[in-house]
Amino acid sequence: MAKEPDIKWLNLTRLGLPVKVLFTGYLIVIGIGLIIAGLQILLTHGMADGKFGVSVKDIIYSYYGNREGSKLEKALNGPMKQYASPQERAILIEWVRKGAPDDMYEKMVKPIIQKNCAKCHGVIPSIPDLTKKEVLKEYAKVDTGASIQQLTRLSHIHLFGMAFIFMLLGFVFSFAIGINKIIKSILIFTPFAFQLIDIAGWWLTKYIPEFAYLVIIGGFGYFTASAIMILISLYQMWLMKPRDGNAWQED
Ligand code: HEC
Repeated sequence: MAKEPDIKWLNLTRLGLPVKVLFTGYLIVIGIGLIIAGLQILLTHGMADGKFGVSVKDIIYSYYGNREGSKLEKALNGPMKQYASPQERAILIEWVRKGAPDDMYEKMVKPIIQKNCAKCHGVIPSIPDLTKKEVLKEYAKVDTGASIQQLTRLSHIHLFGMAFIFMLLGFVFSFAIGINKIIKSILIFTPFAFQLIDIAGWWLTKYIPEFAYLVIIGGFGYFTASAIMILISLYQMWLMKPRDGNAWQED
């Protein structure tokens, strides 16, 4: 069989300027995108337990929910704490935990809500009107975390979107020279695998809170693998001395 012609320029160090610029623009934008996505997770899920920074507890709250409490109890122990005295909070929480019975509502809960909460929740249109019994009862329900609808929607958006990002990132990185092909293949596959672990983690955590660790491992895994590929690719294109060799055919 005839030997294949050796394409000496087929690696990141030897690519022409326009292609390097194209790859670089892409890598910078997705690099920033990944960092912002990380920040967004810190700010949304990360605040689920009221403290900054993602903890296993945050992930459990987001997907499994807080089954001992309810949105109302969470608010009363968190941002709304200041609006009721400890005695009033104890009454409201007792009512929640008893399953929000009507007789107790009329006698004890309604007056507290009228006195402490109605000046905002009943006036400001963007927040729930808790002076309505039905609305308050909704908030007194036990929180079971993300709904199946939310999870299906987020899962498919993530899977399609991220697969696209990792496809192109892996494609750029496949032109890196001087990296053992097994290691290179593992790095290229890692974000896909960890993306699946991450999403499996969401679903499993919804039912079994112990799986929250999968979400952290998954997110950390694809973030790290992507960062390594981005940095190596940028380094080879702009800082490394040009080298001959076909990055796709290297051993
Ligand atoms: C000074 C205005 C103000 C008062 C008083 C107030 N709240 Fe709020 N509350 C807000 C605002 C604004 C939000 C939405 C932003 C947030 O979650 O911090 C909110 C959010 C909430 C939520 C969460 C709503 C959601 O969509 O998840 C609950 C539950 C709640 N408040 C309960 C109460 C209760 C009970 C009281 C009375 C003890 C109370 N609040 C008093 C302003 C107020």
